[in-house]
Amino acid sequence: MTDQRETGTTDQRETATTDQRETRRLSRRHLLTSGTVAGGAVLGGAIGATLTRDPGQPAPTPVAADTTIGTAIEPFHGPRQAGIATPPQAHASFVAFTLHQATDRAALVRLMRLLTDDAARLTQGQPALADTERELALLPARLTVTFGFGPGFYRAAGLDDRRPASVADLPPFSIDRLQPRWSGGDLLIQICADDAVTVAHAQRMLVKDARPFGTVRWTQLGFRRSRGVQGETATQHNLLGQLDGTTNPKPGTTAFEQAVWVPDGPAWQRDGTTLVIRRITTELETWDLLGRTDKEQALGRRLDTGAPLTGQAEHDPPDFTATDEHGFTVIPDFSHVARAHVTNDRLRILRRTYNYDGVPDADGRPDSGLIFASYQADVDRQFLPIQRRLAERDLLNEWTTPIGSAVFAIPPGCAPGGWVGEQLLA
Ligand code: HEM
Repeated sequence: MTDQRETGTTDQRETATTDQRETRRLSRRHLLTSGTVAGGAVLGGAIGATLTRDPGQPAPTPVAADTTIGTAIEPFHGPRQAGIATPPQAHASFVAFTLHQATDRAALVRLMRLLTDDAARLTQGQPALADTERELALLPARLTVTFGFGPGFYRAAGLDDRRPASVADLPPFSIDRLQPRWSGGDLLIQICADDAVTVAHAQRMLVKDARPFGTVRWTQLGFRRSRGVQGETATQHNLLGQLDGTTNPKPGTTAFEQAVWVPDGPAWQRDGTTLVIRRITTELETWDLLGRTDKEQALGRRLDTGAPLTGQAEHDPPDFTATDEHGFTVIPDFSHVARAHVTNDRLRILRRTYNYDGVPDADGRPDSGLIFASYQADVDRQFLPIQRRLAERDLLNEWTTPIGSAVFAIPPGCAPGGWVGEQLLA
């Protein structure tokens, strides 16, 4: 009895299973031959569409990938290095090296020739000379590679007399909680692209070639809004929810020229600039406790439009003298923008910042912040006065803490056949 029942049940189960398998095979075959699936890339979407589609409705048109983002190329050669006036790409890696004791001027020439060759190829969508993953180089996604020289680079070259005076450790600020693991560096490679795989590949190729000359001191990975998710000229929100970058000088303007590039002087400085990188951790958990109005007061601008508290639109000029009915300034005197504001174009800085968001701790508290990258012709003249004012009193300091700091000279670019650093080292 039991045996028969079990046998009967098994038979039924087998029949049912066979039917189901047949149905699955049929529907899969139907999907693959129905003409709705144009290629592997759209398979998932097309299957979903086919299963829910009313048979009377026309098949959805497959969406082609927007490959223009992947194939976009930024020029590498030129009097100035790319990656500064370049509209910020979505992903960045900043890699700082400590040079080996044995790396002298002759070795630096070899190193910079090698790295320049890698960068010239990779940025143009070509594999590096010893590229082990050649296919990964074929989508440059606006890749730029920018080289920076820290104080130790000039020392190693025996050329300390050619170091721009302001390329040195910044003076300490009371707000600083600097960690050696995010600070200093003899050589910097800044790698930016609109694709994270491109950045990772370029980083690996460049680090491999730099390895005989130095060790990686720190690497900082950052991101911004992905290309295509908002308009090309839109200002991005940082992870504090603020529109960040509104008042930056615009490439192609006199203000940008004056603020960023070194206009004259010796060949190894002209058409170069300087870079300050500050790793600034943000306390998102306590920031979350603030109401929207308090957040806007701390910054001096609105969170949605980015408009100054005295204006309506993002690019309205702020009025730092306007007062409310109680006689208080509408933009608080200690708000970030009131303290950071600069009117003289020669004293402005270019902020090309990236968010970072590491692994949360065991309680889920985020490890987030800003890789604050600021470019200016002269650190002492432009960056330091702003940083001093902010360190002295800025409401944002309550939620932001600098934990890393480094300064680099960004030498001029090079012509085809040349190499970055040749004006200094050759
Ligand atoms: C985590 C730290 C920081 C955050 C979240 C932050 C965020 C912002 C935001 C949202 C704005 C307003 C919109 C804009 O003009 O871009 C701004 C403006 C500005 N920030 Fe910061 N910032 C930080 C650190 C710094 C530092 C370290 C400096 C320089 C030492 C700096 C210098 C400036 C300047 C010069 C402005 C433009 C002020 C103006 O002229 O209106 N910021 N920042």
